[in-house]
Amino acid sequence: MSGIGPAAAPDFTIEQDWQGYSAEEHAVWRLLFERQQKLLVGRACREYLDGLDALGVAAAGIPDFRRLGEALDRATGWRIVAVPGLVPDAVFFAHLAERRFPSTCFIRRRDQLDYLQEPDVFHDICGHVPMLMNPVFADYMQAYGKGGLKAEGLGNLERLARLYWYTVEFGLIATRAGLRIYGSGILSSAGESVYCLDDPRPDRLGFELRRVMRTRYRIDRFQDTYFVINDFDQLFEATRPDFAPIYRELAALPDLEPGQVLDEDRRLAGAAPALG
Ligand code: PHE
Ligand code: FE
Repeated sequence: MSGIGPAAAPDFTIEQDWQGYSAEEHAVWRLLFERQQKLLVGRACREYLDGLDALGVAAAGIPDFRRLGEALDRATGWRIVAVPGLVPDAVFFAHLAERRFPSTCFIRRRDQLDYLQEPDVFHDICGHVPMLMNPVFADYMQAYGKGGLKAEGLGNLERLARLYWYTVEFGLIATRAGLRIYGSGILSSAGESVYCLDDPRPDRLGFELRRVMRTRYRIDRFQDTYFVINDFDQLFEATRPDFAPIYRELAALPDLEPGQVLDEDRRLAGAAPALG
C-alpha cells in the first residue's frame, strides 16, 4: 500500500496515534463490535470467544494497542505493532516470526460497514488478536512467519499464502456442537459469519494440507470453499514437516479452483443451527 510516510521505520512500523481517533471513528468501531458480538455467539469457536473475553477488547471504542498488547504479551508473548496498511510479504513474515502482529490503524467508514477488501483496525484487532491469546494458535502463527521467509526463497509464496487464507483468514473448526469459525476474515464480517455456516452453497471440506495449498482463492466475494480442522493441534502438526519436498511434489499437480470438489475430499455437512 502507498502512503508510507516519513515516520515509517524500516520494518514499516508507525505510531498508532490513539489520541488522534475521532468520535466518529470510535462510533464505527462500536457499531461493528456490537453487531459481531451478537452474531458470534454460537458461531465463533470457544478459543476466540475466550481470547476476546480475556483481552477485554473494548466495546467502548478502538483499543489502544499498547494497553491491549500488554494483556497479549502476558498470555502468549505476542505483541502488536502498528503499520500503515498491507506491508511487503517479507516484512510481514519477519514480524510474525518474532511474535509481532502488524495491525493497521485506520477504520472503515460508516458506509463500508459490510465490505472492505483490505484489512482495517477492526479486522486486525477484533479478528486476529483474540486468536493470538491461544497458545497453540500463537505458535502456529509464528511458525507460519518462519515458513513464509522460507517459501519466498523457494519461490512458493503463492502456495503458502493459500494456507494462510484457508486457515488464519477463513478457517472453520469442527466441535461437538457443530462447525465453528476461527478465521479472522470471517470473524470480522457480519455477512460471511452467517453465510459460512448456514448457507447451503459453499463446500466445507476436511482440512488436508496439500489440498489447501493447491486451491486458489477469491478476495472479492464470500468463499466457495472452506476447510475444516478438528482442532488446533491438528493444524500445528500438519504444518510442522519441512515444506520443501511438499512444494516440489505440488509443482507437478494442477491448481484447483474454489468450489471444485474431488472424490477424495471429505465433505462436512453444513452447521448445526447457531444457538444464538
Ligand atoms: N513447516 C513449514 C516449512 O517447512 C513451516 C510452516 C509452519 C508453514 C506452519 C506454515 C505454517 O516451510
Ligand atoms: Fe487478516
